[in-house]
Amino acid sequence: MARTRSLYRLIRPLLFRLNPEASHRLTIALLSAAGRFFAAADDPPELHTNLWGLDFCNPVGLAAGADKDARAVLGWAGMGFGFAELGTITPRPQRGNPRPRMWRLERERALINRLGFPGAGMYAAKVCLERARASGLRMRIGLNFGPNKNTAPDQVAEDYAALAVHLGPLAEFIVLNVSSPNTPGLREWQAPERIGAIVDAIRAALTGTVQIPLLIKISPDLQHPMLAQLCAAAMDLRIDGIVATNTTLERERVGVSSSYQGGLSGEPLKLKSRAIIAEAFKQLDGRIPIIGVGGISSAEDAYEHIRAGASLVELYTGMIYEGVGVVGAIKRGLTRLLVRDGFRSVSEAVGTATR
Ligand SMILES: Cc1cc2nc3c(=O)[nH]c(=O)nc-3n(C[C@H](O)[C@H](O)[C@H](O)COP(=O)(O)O)c2cc1C
Repeated sequence: MARTRSLYRLIRPLLFRLNPEASHRLTIALLSAAGRFFAAADDPPELHTNLWGLDFCNPVGLAAGADKDARAVLGWAGMGFGFAELGTITPRPQRGNPRPRMWRLERERALINRLGFPGAGMYAAKVCLERARASGLRMRIGLNFGPNKNTAPDQVAEDYAALAVHLGPLAEFIVLNVSSPNTPGLREWQAPERIGAIVDAIRAALTGTVQIPLLIKISPDLQHPMLAQLCAAAMDLRIDGIVATNTTLERERVGVSSSYQGGLSGEPLKLKSRAIIAEAFKQLDGRIPIIGVGGISSAEDAYEHIRAGASLVELYTGMIYEGVGVVGAIKRGLTRLLVRDGFRSVSEAVGTATR
C-alpha cells in the first residue's frame, strides 16, 4: 500500500491537469472496470465494530458524493473501505447545475463544489447495486437520498419515500441528505417538524417490510440552538444515526478566501466538523451513533473524529489529495493509535475526548 501511495504521488499531477470533474469521471470508470480484480486484506480485530446489529470489518467509509450512481462498488470494497455511502441518489435522473461546478483549492487541500446532485436516478442505481450485491460483498452499503431539484416542496417527503421503497432493501442503512448547500431550500428540511414529515413518509411507505436504519446527514453550519433541537428531534423520532457533516458555506471563518460558490470540503472543514460531532455527541448523550466526516486525510484525523464522538468515519476530499492508499494508511495508523492508548476496539474510544 505504501507503494500505491508513492505511485499516486506520481500520477496525481497528471490527474490534476484534468478539470476535477473529468478526473473524477476517469477514476470512477477505472474503478468500475477494474474493481472486481482488487481484493482487500482482512482487517485486524481492533478495527471490527458493530452498529445496528451489523458487523463492520473496519470503521473507515467512503463519503457520499464520490459515487453518486453506485457504479464502482466493488472498487471501493477492493480499496479496503469498511462501508461506502453511495449517492446522493434522486428519484429521477437530473443534470445538476451548469458547469464549471467543482474546483480544487490545492494549497488549502480543499474542494468547492456546487454539483447539485447530477445523477442517473434511482432505477439506474438499482441495476448497479443489484449487480454488486450479486457478487457477494463484505463491505457495508449506505444509500444517501435526496429530492429532485424540480420536486415541489409538498412532494419532497414523497421523493424520499419512493427512494426508500425502491432502493432500501439493497442498503444496510439509509441516509437522508437534508444538508447539501447546492439544492435550494434543502437545508430547511433540517427543522425538526420538517424532518419528522420525511421520516413519517418513509416509515409509512416501508410498513410491513424490513426496517432499515435511518440516518440524517447534517450541515456544519447549524447554529447551536438548531443543532440541539435537531438532536432532540432525532431522539424523539427514533432516528438510528447522524452523519456529521456535509460541506460548509463558510469561508473566512475556516481560513479560506475564495469567490467560488458552493460547499467547501477537505482540510479547512476538519475542526468545524469535529466541533459539531462533539456537540452532537453531548446532546445525544451517546445514545445515537454518529458517522463523522469532514477533512479526514490521516489516521490521526480519523482517530480524533472518533474520540470526539464518531462511531464510524468517512472521507472524500482526503482521498483526492492522498490517493487510494490513504484507506490502508488510515486503518494501519488507527490500529496503532488504539493500541497505544490501551483501547481494545474502536467503540471503546468513541467520545473519550468529549465525555
Ligand atoms: C465533489 C463533492 C460532491 C459531494 N456530493 C455529496 C452528495 O451528493 N451528497 C452528500 O450528502 N454529500 C456530498 N458531499 C459531501 C461529502 O460527503 C462530505 O460530507 C464532505 O465533503 C466532507 O468530507 P471530506 O472533507 O472528507 O470531503 C460531496 C462532497 C464533494 C467534495
